[in-house]
Amino acid sequence: MSHDIYPVLLKDTYINQEQYKELYQRSLEEPEGFWKEQAKKYITWFEPSEKVLQGGFDLLDVVWYAGGKLNASYNCLDRHLKTHADKIAIIWESDEGNSKKITYHDLHREVCQFANVLKKYGVKKGDRVCIYLPMIPEAVVAMLACARIGAIHSVVFGGFSAESLHTRINDADCRLVITANEGMRGGKKIPLKANVDTALVSCPQVQHVIVVKRTDNKIDWQKRDIWYHEAMQIVDADCEPEILDANDPLFILYTSGSTGKPKGILHGTGGYLVFAAMTHQLVFDYHPQDIYWCSADIGWITGHTYVVYGPLLNGATTVIFEGTPNFPSPSRFWEVIDKHQVSIFYTAPTALRALRQEGDDWVKKTKRTSLRVLGTVGEPINPEAWEWYYHVVGEDRCAIVDTWWQTETGGIMITPLPGATPLKPGSASWPFFGVEPKVVDDKGKEVADGQMGKLVITKPWPGMMQTIYNNRERFVETYFKEFPGMYLTGDQAYRDKEGYFWISGRSDDVIKVSGHRIGTEEVESALLCHPAVAESAVVGVPDHVKGQSIYAFVTLKTGYDNSDTLKKELIDTVRKEIGAIAIPQTIVFAKGLPKTRSGKIMRRILRQIANQEVDNLGDLSTLSDPQVVDDLIEQVKKLS
Ligand code: PRX
Repeated sequence: MSHDIYPVLLKDTYINQEQYKELYQRSLEEPEGFWKEQAKKYITWFEPSEKVLQGGFDLLDVVWYAGGKLNASYNCLDRHLKTHADKIAIIWESDEGNSKKITYHDLHREVCQFANVLKKYGVKKGDRVCIYLPMIPEAVVAMLACARIGAIHSVVFGGFSAESLHTRINDADCRLVITANEGMRGGKKIPLKANVDTALVSCPQVQHVIVVKRTDNKIDWQKRDIWYHEAMQIVDADCEPEILDANDPLFILYTSGSTGKPKGILHGTGGYLVFAAMTHQLVFDYHPQDIYWCSADIGWITGHTYVVYGPLLNGATTVIFEGTPNFPSPSRFWEVIDKHQVSIFYTAPTALRALRQEGDDWVKKTKRTSLRVLGTVGEPINPEAWEWYYHVVGEDRCAIVDTWWQTETGGIMITPLPGATPLKPGSASWPFFGVEPKVVDDKGKEVADGQMGKLVITKPWPGMMQTIYNNRERFVETYFKEFPGMYLTGDQAYRDKEGYFWISGRSDDVIKVSGHRIGTEEVESALLCHPAVAESAVVGVPDHVKGQSIYAFVTLKTGYDNSDTLKKELIDTVRKEIGAIAIPQTIVFAKGLPKTRSGKIMRRILRQIANQEVDNLGDLSTLSDPQVVDDLIEQVKKLS
């Protein structure tokens, strides 16, 4: 396999190619010394740790920085006040196009005040707090205020429905919810507070809801509700940070897996913060004069690590963008870049594909001269979209970093470094320091270069998840059971002869729709909530903008007929149960689903049928009723 290769463009970066190779080697050979240095360099500790790395993947008893004491909000705020209290911490760009700038001094004051509000309403160290907010500065304030007092935040993406919110609040047993009266996105209002009210009907443990006033619209008011701006007026601005252990949890973030309900990924404090700060500085070659913008929502891990923690730990100016890429026009991203002189920009391939489709003029009418580094994350980037980013957006002078990582990994794992890695469009390239990825076969044996297999990580790294909240069994089963001693990523990949990793997508039943991670089983369960549905099976199919889209096969109970009205009802059901991000693009009504004699649905066959790759369906003799396959092929043909 030969690929185009682009030379390294940037000079005077933190790391050049030689340094990368040397330091990477050292990070694997001498992890203790290496990570001790990084901990000292990137984090201010109240007390240093006694042991950098304890345990391993064999017994699954990994502990990073045991005995170390620190506080995340102190590291993101207080320690910067001596040197740059007046530096802008947050530039907020609203959906309507207004902006607001908040200094480190002011952000610190607001976080301390809000931490006092949380305390006033009974939140203590270790309590879980749910944050269901739009992309507004108060979202960052809420996260850091939790961190300041040692409460564990669980941010739920504002696009999730009341039902999804309810499940997540109950799973984490959250005591308090922070929301806004409404959110704004692409000119549309999102009824966040109304969703909270619906969700809380069956969450009796939640006694208080703090509401940020984002719009002027009136909302229903409950006895438990408190306005954010009113609560902030009656607390003082002094709040000492809680001294926390490196392994005290910092946050829970729910994500989808191949089976069951979403998993609450639990991240600790010390290791996560070291990894967040270091990756943010080196992957984006962040320097103090940069204006940094990651367009991800804080409801996803990218928002946690690279909108909030990474940049604030490094004392950066981070742009918080409430809007969407194509509102009011497809120039929006590039206009915001010009307006705030953004030098580092990090976004998702799906946004780039959607904007590329609108034509180059929307980009070319803006200047973008401030840009230096361009990043992507969340799904594989196809070489065409990569080339467009490189040539049209970056005008052949910016480094591109295609960063591979996951909610579970806490930070970037495989990525180019701007001054070190010659680029190959479509490859996330080389591993970050301390990360040892391998590609293995079904037995866990490493495969030859160029051969596709399962991507695993063989050594612990500081940003790794601690566990699945309240479900250690599922943690072990999902990530460490198939290949004991290795972390199973769930992705398929191959490594080329030059050590570049090419990640092609998931090897399990997880679909990536516009970079959002959705479990097929979640969508199937949602469809089953409709009384007409007898059975459903959901697969992912390629989509030239979204990466993948959801394709659902549904069989109906006797007495129900398929119709467009029913299709609409099914879509509404998924919207209600999960949210608009999980709506199937296609629904096929089937007479039956291909099953083995023991009743297991053969997804491989459904995937091939949905993709219209039916020439070689393999051995169908094990199916209980091979006839259903012909019927499905017929149905799919009719729809295309
Ligand atoms: O399949 C991989 C894909 O996104 C998955 C992780 O999703 P999530 O936990 O939502 O985190 C997304 C943001 C970090 C991975 O298992 N993925 C992420 N980045 C890339 C990618 N696939 C290919 N290339 C990437 N750069």
